[in-house]
Amino acid sequence: MTSVPLSNPGQLIVRNQELFELEHLVVVGLPADDLVSHLLSDGVDYISALTRDFSAYRRLIPLEARLKDQLSLSFAPILSVDFTRPVDGVLLFLQKSKPLMDFWLEMVLSFLPDDAPIWLVGENDEGIKSWKKRLKNSFGYVKSVDNARHCVLLEASEPLKKTENFTLEPWFETFSVTAGSTNMDITSLPGVFSHGRLDKGTQVLLETLDAVPSGKVLDFGCGAGVISAYINTLQGEHDFTLVDCDALALASSHKTMSATGSKSFTVLPSDGLSEVTGQFDLIISNPPFHQGVKTHYEVTEQFLAQSRQRLRPGGELRIVANSFLRYPPIIQKAFGRCETLLTRDGFSIYRAIRKA
Ligand SMILES: C[S@@+](CC[C@H](N)C(=O)[O-])C[C@H]1O[C@@H](n2cnc3c(N)ncnc32)[C@H](O)[C@@H]1O
Repeated sequence: MTSVPLSNPGQLIVRNQELFELEHLVVVGLPADDLVSHLLSDGVDYISALTRDFSAYRRLIPLEARLKDQLSLSFAPILSVDFTRPVDGVLLFLQKSKPLMDFWLEMVLSFLPDDAPIWLVGENDEGIKSWKKRLKNSFGYVKSVDNARHCVLLEASEPLKKTENFTLEPWFETFSVTAGSTNMDITSLPGVFSHGRLDKGTQVLLETLDAVPSGKVLDFGCGAGVISAYINTLQGEHDFTLVDCDALALASSHKTMSATGSKSFTVLPSDGLSEVTGQFDLIISNPPFHQGVKTHYEVTEQFLAQSRQRLRPGGELRIVANSFLRYPPIIQKAFGRCETLLTRDGFSIYRAIRKA
C-alpha cells in the first residue's frame, strides 16, 4: 500500500490518540489517508470503518486482508455494525453536506451505546465550529477536545434520543427535473451531487443531446444518474455503465435507473476509470472538480487523457465544464481535436471523436 500523508483532521486525531485506545472504534466517513494504520498501531484493538469514497476503500483493501482480525471496512451508504463486538466509541468525519450529516448522525444514534462517546472532527473551512451547537440537539454533553491544523475535534455523549430501526430506504428522495421538454424522476440520497435539483451545467449538457445512436454509453461521475436517465428517454437501444467513486451516488443511480424500467444498465464503483473495462460508443460526463470545499482537477484531467482508449473507433467523448477550466488542450492532446459545441451561462460543451 502506498503511503498517503495524514489529512489535517487525521493529524488532529493522531495528536489525541490516547482517546481512541479502545477495543472497538467505529469510524464513519473515513478519508483516503493512512489514519487507520496509525490508529491500529497506536493501541486501537478493532476498527469498523465506513467510507463513501471508493478511492479510500480501494487503498485499504490490502490492509483489511492482512489485518482481518483488526479491521472491517465497508464501502456503502450506511454501516452494518457487528453487534457481537460492543462499540466503545464512534469517530465521525465532518461531511460538507448538512443533510448527509443528519443522515449519518441518525445512523450512529441507532447503535451508539449510552455510555460511549462520539467524536466529530473537521476543518474550520468546512464549518466544524457550528457543530458544537448542533450536536447539543442530539447529545446531553458536548465539548471541544482540541483545536489545531485548522481543525476542531469535538466530543459528545449522553444521547438525548435513540434511532429505532434505522434503514436506508426512507432516506432516498425522488424529485422531478426538466431538461428541454423532458421530465424525469431522479432519486437520490443526501450528500449526492445536486441532491434535489438539476445542476445548471448538466442541464446545458443534456440540451445538446437530442439524439444518441444506439450503443454502449459510459456515464462518468454519474451522481444520481440524471444523464443516463435522460438518454434513456431518447430513441435507440442503449447499454449504460454508470460509474462514480461515491457509494451514496451509486445507490442513488441504481434507484434512478431501476425506476426508468431500463434493463440494460450497470452501476460500477470506480476511482476515475480504474475499474472500467471494454470500449464505449459514447462517454459522457459532467466531471468532478470539487472534493470537499477544495478544487481538484487531477481526476478529470486523468479521465480526459485516458478516455480515448475506452472509446471504439468513431466513438464520442462529450463533457460539460465551467468555461474557465483549461480542458480543451488536454482533450486536444488525447484526441487530436476538441470541438466546442456550445458555450452558455458560463459552461462549455466539448466534444471529441476517436478517429481510429
Ligand atoms: C459534477 S458531479 C456530476 C454528477 C451527475 N453526473 C450530474 O450531472 O448531476 C461529478 C461526480 O463525479 C464523482 N467523482 C468525484 N471524483 C471521482 C472519481 N475519482 N472517480 C469517479 N467519480 C468521481 C462525484 O462523486 C460526483 O458524483
